[in-house]
Amino acid sequence: MCPVAVWLILFATLGRAAVLQPDNIFSVGAGINEYRKLLVDAKSASLYVGARDHIFRLWIYNINDTSSESLYTVRELKADPEEAAECERSGNTVSECASWLRLLFVQSDGSLLACTSQAMRPHIAKLDALTMRDRETPQSVIGVCSPHHHINTTAVFVEFGNPDGLPTIYSGIRTGLSLENHLIYRPPLVFNNKEVHSSMRTIYTDSKWLNEPQFVGSFAVDQYVYFFFREIAVEFENCGRAVYSRVARICKNDLGGKNVLRQVFTSYVKARLNCSISSQFPFYFDHIQSVYKVDSESDTFFYASFSTAESPFIASAVCHFSLNNINRLFDNGLFSEQPSVTSAWIQTPPEQVPNSRPGQCVSDSRQTSDADLHFAKSHLLMADSVPGGEPIIYQRDVQFSNILVDKIDNKHVVFVYVPSRAEVLKIVHWRESGSSVKSVHLVTLKLPYPEKVFDLAILGNEYLFVSDENRVSQYRVSQCEMHVDCRRCAFDPYCSWNIARGMCFTKEAIHSTAVGWVSDANSADRCSSQAKASTVKIYPGDAAHFRCESDAISWTFDKHPVSTPSERLIPTVSGGLIVMNASVADSGTYRCQGADGSVIVEYRLTVDGENCAQPRTLDQFRSVQRDWCRKYDNYKESLSKWQAWHERNSHCPRVPEQFKGGKLSNNIVI
Ligand SMILES: *[C@@H]1O[C@H](CO)[C@@H](O)[C@H](O)[C@H]1NC(C)=O
Ligand SMILES: *[C@@H]1O[C@H](CO)[C@@H](O)[C@H](O)[C@H]1NC(C)=O
Ligand SMILES: *[C@@H]1O[C@H](CO)[C@@H](O)[C@H](O)[C@H]1NC(C)=O
Ligand SMILES: *[C@@H]1O[C@H](CO)[C@@H](O)[C@H](O)[C@H]1NC(C)=O
Repeated sequence: MCPVAVWLILFATLGRAAVLQPDNIFSVGAGINEYRKLLVDAKSASLYVGARDHIFRLWIYNINDTSSESLYTVRELKADPEEAAECERSGNTVSECASWLRLLFVQSDGSLLACTSQAMRPHIAKLDALTMRDRETPQSVIGVCSPHHHINTTAVFVEFGNPDGLPTIYSGIRTGLSLENHLIYRPPLVFNNKEVHSSMRTIYTDSKWLNEPQFVGSFAVDQYVYFFFREIAVEFENCGRAVYSRVARICKNDLGGKNVLRQVFTSYVKARLNCSISSQFPFYFDHIQSVYKVDSESDTFFYASFSTAESPFIASAVCHFSLNNINRLFDNGLFSEQPSVTSAWIQTPPEQVPNSRPGQCVSDSRQTSDADLHFAKSHLLMADSVPGGEPIIYQRDVQFSNILVDKIDNKHVVFVYVPSRAEVLKIVHWRESGSSVKSVHLVTLKLPYPEKVFDLAILGNEYLFVSDENRVSQYRVSQCEMHVDCRRCAFDPYCSWNIARGMCFTKEAIHSTAVGWVSDANSADRCSSQAKASTVKIYPGDAAHFRCESDAISWTFDKHPVSTPSERLIPTVSGGLIVMNASVADSGTYRCQGADGSVIVEYRLTVDGENCAQPRTLDQFRSVQRDWCRKYDNYKESLSKWQAWHERNSHCPRVPEQFKGGKLSNNIVI
């Protein structure tokens, strides 16, 4: 190889690196770091950010604009210095003894409910959502938010539908000195400083209820609260142990039993979540990592990221679960039971299920008979699993974490964060007329900062927010300029393709009717006839890189398939093609085609050997020559431009008569 020849990879004009550039950044520096928690409140156009000892309220359309009090508020929530000192004396780190925001909810009356770790003595504060001043004196609280940040907990604020209509938080948490108790918990309901209803929980001494769960999410819908978690599967009967993912449901109005299941949820039921690639032997993704709820007209969907066990062969997937399916299973499905500690799990015969079926909401659970409650206590796992459909996407060698979903034009845009690569996958998922479900992986967005990401949040159809140790950054969800081909652009519900310019733009309403735009998946077949060819010109010995980020593609060169990779024609992992050490014979048309034969992108390559046929024998010459060719080309172009200008203007006098004497005649035609 020629020592001076550094292969010059020419990125075709359409190609743009998929590295995100933030629109805005928020950072205060100076000791206030670790922006751990984000909460979007679209109604007040606020982004709440929890950092060390502080909560910030930022203007959601520009988080960098801290110029006025109406757009920006900061509230310090420091732990009491003596308590912090004592916390440190008990062997905790300075960071652990700071005050960290663990939970934040916006209440309908315009207050914020904030649970903070406060020197490992969690407090709950009620603040004004705009000024962030206290509305009530902060109270210390147990079981709602954890003093420890590394454990996986969840909580949901439920304003309506609880006993006596009293707002409360439901949490999935670990308590106890060595965090040995795993439970779903609801604190006592208090009205006018008086306890009206005692606290409620699941049984934490019975592994059939919860077996070392890792909670990932919780949601309130109608009369129920749902919890998503993974846990060690009690029903797994092969050797070793397996972790399964679950959804559990409880009734908001549950008051526990009178004798049996006192202060314990009587309506607690759970089922396995089935996220698998179907085949004769399904391949299961059993570790749920993150879940996001999306409401649609007739149903609600939970999109969740999963991974396999943490082994050298990790793989991840995204599945989605219908609330109707979940409820149908809890309301009508078969229960499973283990008749004795040593026996196998069996399906409970339907005739043994009492009239007050476990999992049903009753007007007063304290009236349920002891016998029925005994049945409920040991029948809470459904025999069947909740189907998650075919994975929307799955990948090897990575662990997916946070998932966010935006709903736009009846399509769901799913964002999945991949920590090990600092990437966000953007996938569109929708239901065609009929029942077929489709998804397209649109683009992989690379985050520009290497720091550990703590949280992600989304403002529908507008922005994605990412917080890390040093900053919060704001990105447009659309990022249309990242699409290099028409089909992907058309499939992206935020974007439309301009045929004439061969570029992808943010979609505007007019694009669906205007000529020259391809703006939805249904018209994506218009792309193939419209695929704009980009011309690429290089010199002998150069390399060219043709991008085509698409699934299941193939390349042709002058209509012949580029089949086996050679030393000179190298396919890239992302679907592109590199032509190395080009010669004049490589000139021609390169097409990237989809599985259906449609042209996704076309490149016309010219290897200009004619004007610059230079010694081929001496490798050292090549780079010099290429350089010279390029300069010569520029020179030729300038020369011809100058010539054209000269020809157009040679009839003009040096100073046009009309400008003389500072007067302008009215009839100049330029
Ligand atoms: C590049 O191609 C030319 C012929 O086009 C050949 O003579 C030369 O050895 C090649 N160089 C390398 C480094 O492959
Ligand atoms: C944020 O605003 C400041 C001035 O208000 C400006 O100097 C800075 O460049 C802005 N940063 C970003 C990322 O927009
Ligand atoms: C919490 O979950 C993450 C991944 O989902 C895992 O890596 C971590 O070990 C869990 N935390 C604990 C304390 O088990
Ligand atoms: C999970 O779903 C797959 C595909 O639909 C199915 O083949 C498999 O039997 C299901 N597994 C369980 C445990 O329900």
